[in-house]
Amino acid sequence: MDERLARYVNDLFAIEDGVLTGIRARQERLGLPAINISADEGKLLHVLLRATGARRVLEIGALAGYSGVWLARALPPDGSLITIEKDPRHALVARQAFAEAGLGSRATLIEGAALDVLPTLAPGFDVVFVDADKEPLAQYFAWGMRLLRVGGLLLLDNAFRHGQVVNPEDRTPDTEGIRTFNRLAATDSRLVSAMVPIRDGLLVCVKVAE
Ligand code: DHB
Ligand code: MG
Repeated sequence: MDERLARYVNDLFAIEDGVLTGIRARQERLGLPAINISADEGKLLHVLLRATGARRVLEIGALAGYSGVWLARALPPDGSLITIEKDPRHALVARQAFAEAGLGSRATLIEGAALDVLPTLAPGFDVVFVDADKEPLAQYFAWGMRLLRVGGLLLLDNAFRHGQVVNPEDRTPDTEGIRTFNRLAATDSRLVSAMVPIRDGLLVCVKVAE
């Protein structure tokens, strides 16, 4: 998108408050990777949660808690975001972010590898947002489908993999993981899916059948 247009959109629809800018600042200060979602993507996730009346949301990959704050803020007071993070340092920073955001019981971080944690969760989530390591994405897809209720949303960040999904020479496990998730989302008859070309691609899928 044209830079001026992007600023126009951001200034109107994706304004960060001090909590969100603070999370990004701390992430930078601590040398954590600057791979958080963008504000406009955060706002889109927030709107999707509100549109579906989401109460129970699962995020795979918390990093510093930036996306988690956008997600949890869309929940009603008794709603719950569970976010899984395997890096203990990231987990500490993300928990701090949730406390600063005053989210209380609306955001819970579970520290551990997603493939260890996912089998411990009860199904019935309204939304599953996948934004973690890319190689196991076929498994995250399967777990997402198992844990989502019918009518729920399965969301994938980095669905374009910085454009690498259309580079036939890129056969790396990460890019193959993204390709596999995209293909499953496009062909699984239990899903209706659309690609939103925001930032690095946000894949939005609604589960229409068990
Ligand atoms: C990377 C991972 C992400 O989830 C992201 O949003 C951007 C980049 C990465 O591993 O490079
Ligand atoms: Mg990402």
